[in-house]
Amino acid sequence: MPIRSFVRRSGRITVSQRKAIDKLWPVYGVKIAGELNLDILFGRKAEKHLEIGFGNGNSLIDMAMSNPEHDYLGIDVYTSGIGHLLIKIEENQLTNIRIINTDAVEVLTNNLTSACLDAVYLFFPDPWPKKRHHKRRLIQPDFINLLAKRIKPNGNFHLATDWENYAQHMLSVLESSLEFTNHTNTFFPRPPERTLTKFEQRGLRLGHKVWDLLYRRC
Ligand SMILES: C[S@@+](CC[C@H](N)C(=O)[O-])C[C@H]1O[C@@H](n2cnc3c(N)ncnc32)[C@H](O)[C@@H]1O
Repeated sequence: MPIRSFVRRSGRITVSQRKAIDKLWPVYGVKIAGELNLDILFGRKAEKHLEIGFGNGNSLIDMAMSNPEHDYLGIDVYTSGIGHLLIKIEENQLTNIRIINTDAVEVLTNNLTSACLDAVYLFFPDPWPKKRHHKRRLIQPDFINLLAKRIKPNGNFHLATDWENYAQHMLSVLESSLEFTNHTNTFFPRPPERTLTKFEQRGLRLGHKVWDLLYRRC
């Protein structure tokens, strides 16, 4: 069994989320089978942006609405969040979002097989604060090497976390990578356009600070 960075939260699915999944998953959900060609998936040539672990999808919705000329792929395994995202996609009549409900590591390994992404976002990933769980954190040297193969040269990788220990770990893993650079070797000021997510709000309520990191694929 691979070490997973998530625990599937069954959560409470509302009636409207369930209905949205039944009705809209066939339209916006991606059935994974072999190599994914993103231009075919979205039906056009456009920049392709990926958000890993979108939670309830609010940041994905905001980015897709602000940048209709780009396509947005979201990967998460949180069913209630997928329902929430589908409701928002329909409300806002968005055509530039597709959703995958599988471990992002598997998708990046097996289904996206070339440097096809213009940007990747990882906002408030599960922090796995206990030391014995640190191996479950998504950011590890092997994962960064995998991302480097999937992000185009000059493409961006934007991360944010409210856990200081994880922020330092992210910084050290990315600074050790020869594939990514951020020119300043340190954290990045929070971009005002980045959506305040549910987990960021939770962190702020708990009195946490927030660290953003913005790296470019060399
Ligand atoms: C702490 S939540 C943050 C959600 C959202 N980004 C936010 O800021 O509110 C982390 C999310 O990442 C998802 N996740 C963690 N590891 C994942 C993986 N390997 N593949 C897909 N989703 C993953 C979890 O299901 C969860 O929804």
